[in-house]
Amino acid sequence: MKKFTSVRDVPSVDALVKKALALKAQPIQPTVGQHKVLGLVFFNPSLRTRLSTQKAAFNLGMQCMVMNVGQDGWQLEMGEGTVMDGSSQEHIKDAVRVMSEYCDILGVRTFAALKKREEDYQELVLEHFLNYAKVPIISLESATRHPLQSLADLATIASFGIKRPKVAVSWAPHPKALPQAVTNSFLEWVKKMDAEVVLAHPPGYELEPSFVEGIKVVDQQEDALQGADFVYVKNWSSYRHYGKVLPVTENWMLTPKKMTLTNQGRFMHCLPIRRNVIATDEVIEQSIVYQQAKNREYAAQAVLKTMLEEIS
Ligand code: CP
Repeated sequence: MKKFTSVRDVPSVDALVKKALALKAQPIQPTVGQHKVLGLVFFNPSLRTRLSTQKAAFNLGMQCMVMNVGQDGWQLEMGEGTVMDGSSQEHIKDAVRVMSEYCDILGVRTFAALKKREEDYQELVLEHFLNYAKVPIISLESATRHPLQSLADLATIASFGIKRPKVAVSWAPHPKALPQAVTNSFLEWVKKMDAEVVLAHPPGYELEPSFVEGIKVVDQQEDALQGADFVYVKNWSSYRHYGKVLPVTENWMLTPKKMTLTNQGRFMHCLPIRRNVIATDEVIEQSIVYQQAKNREYAAQAVLKTMLEEIS
C-alpha cells in the first residue's frame, strides 16, 4: 500500500481486519520497523489517532515524530502560483517534500473546513501530501474520510464473531457542526463485510450519495435499531445545506430505552463523545467504545506493518 486514504487503497479489507486482530494478539514486533521513522502531521486536534498511531509505531520498533501545524511550524500556503507576500511563510509543497526527506511514512490529519463543500470534497491538503511526498501517506482523518477509525470499527465488529450482524448507523444530535468523514468512511468500509446495514437520520442530513449507495436508509431511528447487534452513532452536519446544523424536533439521543429495541446491541462511537447529548451516561457505560478505541492501535499497526513490509 503506497497510501491509506480510503477503502479503495486496500487490496483486501478482510485480510487487513484479520491482520489487525492478529496484531492485537501479538503486538510487540520491534524489528519490523527498526530504524524507520513515522511522521505524524496534525492540522487539527486529536487524542486517539495521535496516541494510538504512535503506540502502533512503537510496537513495531519505529521512531515517531509529531508536528502540530499552526503551533509548531510555519503558516502554510496552499494556493498554486500564489505570490507569497501575505501571512503564509512556507508553501505546503515545500513542507511536504522536506518532511518526506526525514520520514519513511507520513500521516496527516486535515479536517473539513465546512465552508465550501467542493473544496472539502476535493481533499486539497491530503492531495498535496499525496502529490509531493515521496513516502507512503496515511490519512489520520481527512475532510471526507477516517479510514483508520473505520478499520478499527470493522475489527471491533469482527471480534464478536457474529454471523452477518445487523449494524444500525444513526445520526445523533450535537451542538456544533461536525464533518461527515467518520460516517462516510464507516459506510464505505462496512459495505465490504457481510453485514445488514441500516442508516437512520432526520430529513436534511442525507450524506453524499456515493457513500450511501446500496445502503438501506430510514428517517426513524427506532426502525434502524430494531434487532441491531451493533449501534454505531455519530453526528454529522448537513451535506446538502453544507456544514449547517438543521433543527430536528425529535430527540435522537441514544437512551437505555431505545437500546432495548436492539438485539443486546453494542453501542459504538468513535469518540470523543458529548455525554447526555449523543447518548446518555448509562448507554456509554454499557458500550464497547473503549474496545473500539483500543483497536485503533492495532488498526494503525496493521497499516504501518503492511507499508513497512513493502518499503523494506
Ligand atoms: N476517533 C478519533 O479519531 O479520535 P481523535 O479525534 O481524538 O483522534
